[in-house]
Amino acid sequence: MKQSVKLIVGNWKMHGLSADLGEAATLRQALEEESASCRVVLCPPATLLDRMRTVVEGGAVELGGQDCHEKPAGAFTGSTSAAMLADAGASLVILGHSERRAAFGENDAAVAAKVEAAIAAGLEPIVCVGETLAQREAGDAVAVVSAQVENSLADSLAERPFAVAYEPVWAIGTGLTPTLEQIAEVHAALRAALVRRLGQAAARIPILYGGSVKPENAAEILAASEVGGALVGGASLKAEDFLKIIRAA
Ligand code: PGA
Repeated sequence: MKQSVKLIVGNWKMHGLSADLGEAATLRQALEEESASCRVVLCPPATLLDRMRTVVEGGAVELGGQDCHEKPAGAFTGSTSAAMLADAGASLVILGHSERRAAFGENDAAVAAKVEAAIAAGLEPIVCVGETLAQREAGDAVAVVSAQVENSLADSLAERPFAVAYEPVWAIGTGLTPTLEQIAEVHAALRAALVRRLGQAAARIPILYGGSVKPENAAEILAASEVGGALVGGASLKAEDFLKIIRAA
């Protein structure tokens, strides 16, 4: 199904200091001069959310977190809850990114618990799935991501806005991307899994592609079947690059 409005999300990961707030200001300004035909989201580190809010408030740029704890509050040193992200200005949150799954041992059940927490705080979750190179080479990509998406979602999502992001682990930060046929194949499987899991309500949920999206390849990827937007890492750090991707949507 073709989505009318694409969702373009910038994931700054562990990048961004006060000096980088100017990139958000540039983005806001540009989107005032040339209104975007897509939704634009920046996910800075949690430390910048509140100050970035003051930069983008009243403009077209929405803000998101990069992860949240599954509990609303408590004795969890170093963690950030969904309610805290919302309080700091986020309206969305990336969950289950492969870097969190790999480096912090997050499994599908943990991601599903975070999805519940995000919904409870009024955030729109962006649930990430993706296969490793070994899984793709073994012919298991579709089976792996289908299982991930079914097990990482929460029943309550059927009533809520959310997004799924397909991010092949081997394509993240490597400059490698799957072929358009491979992207279309996985997105079709994810659409089927979403509808199986949540019913027809999930037939219009945007399925983003992420992994080495750049100004040069954004247009063709965003035009591929069932691609409802992009989750962009490295190329979202500079407004100039990110704007080229936004214009391609
Ligand atoms: P990349 O990262 O665009 O730098 O490959 C994408 C992501 O991890 O979300």
